[in-house]
Amino acid sequence: AAYLNIPESRVYSMGTFYKAFSLTPRGEKTIRICGGTACHLRGGAFILREVEKRLNISVGETTPDRRFTLETVNCLGACALAPVIMVNEKVYGQMTPALVATMLEEMDHEIPSTC
Ligand code: FES
Repeated sequence: AAYLNIPESRVYSMGTFYKAFSLTPRGEKTIRICGGTACHLRGGAFILREVEKRLNISVGETTPDRRFTLETVNCLGACALAPVIMVNEKVYGQMTPALVATMLEEMDHEIPSTC
């Protein structure tokens, strides 16, 4: 705000309006769980619950090690693959709680990019 010589409230409103901005640190990987109609009908809530349980965070939160941020979205545009999740830019379709568990375990063995 000082650099741009504008009120802090204006910076805050921009930072909270656009989803691309975040006022808190985000994880290295953003997991987006689709909550659209097709995904919801095919068990999206179970996928969300599994991710929350495995990462011990809720929607909108980031793991303490800053590896994962969890979000929900209205539709990822891949309804035929429902239920769908997206990790960064990669889409995973026809997910089940067991597949989520396997995927997170595999990611757990990845070396964080900060190392
Ligand atoms: S409803 Fe989930 S991808 Fe469209």
